[in-house]
Amino acid sequence: MTGAGVSAESGVPTFRDSNGLWEGHDIEQVATPMGFAEDPKLVWKFYSERRVGVKGVKPNAGHYALTELERKLGDRFQLITQNVDDLHERAGSTRIGKLHGNLLRTKCSKYMTCPYAAADDKEYLGELPVCPLCGAVARPDIVWFYESLDPFEFDKFDSFVARTKIKAASVPETKLYYIAVGTSGVVAPASHLVYHAASMGAKTYLVNRDETAQESAFDVSIRGLSGEVLPQLFE
Ligand code: OAD
Repeated sequence: MTGAGVSAESGVPTFRDSNGLWEGHDIEQVATPMGFAEDPKLVWKFYSERRVGVKGVKPNAGHYALTELERKLGDRFQLITQNVDDLHERAGSTRIGKLHGNLLRTKCSKYMTCPYAAADDKEYLGELPVCPLCGAVARPDIVWFYESLDPFEFDKFDSFVARTKIKAASVPETKLYYIAVGTSGVVAPASHLVYHAASMGAKTYLVNRDETAQESAFDVSIRGLSGEVLPQLFE
């Protein structure tokens, strides 16, 4: 389970550091459906600037360590991320569940009823894009506050844990590990996954640069940078 800290060494600002994403922006303005309804141009400018920023950075050693682990473990590995950048994908991760959406994609604002599938898109600094199918205003494919996660993405965690549990019934030496990296653990339901994993018998690890309020929920806490810790931990 990765959070913004994994992309920090690539130069993507985290959310809750002082120079983070919310700097100068009220969360209600740029990360809620109400903020978008009120000023869609401002919201589009905000995410368009983030799109430009992410396109200019590269994956780091933490992303590559996760790709390497996936290569070794195959379907015994599942990556779940809260990150909306595409650095895991560019590092080569394929078994990935994106809980909070995809910064580079655009979807219809009426996505609950319009069948238009979110697609990669460009920046909008002035004009407002519209859905090519129904003509409603288009929006970034981000899960905003007050919105539900995509159940298809969330299920990747649940089904992986369930599969491991079933396997453990016939292969007793099966072990489940849950590793959270670079996340402050304050946004649910992502922050709850450690408890689900622990209840399924997982040994739980946290790799984070700073102390977090959730640290005591983990069996093992490693303080450090993900780009330095993950390659050693997986080795
Ligand atoms: P946060 O910004 O809340 O937390 C990032 C964590 O990463 C902090 O605890 C830092 O100490 C740690 N960190 C920073 N650099 C690191 C590094 N190089 N190595 C390891 N750890 C490092 O980010 P998230 O927990 O990901 O949601 O935030 C969760 C969600 O809040 C985001 O996905 C976003 C926001 O609302 C949406 O966009 C929907």
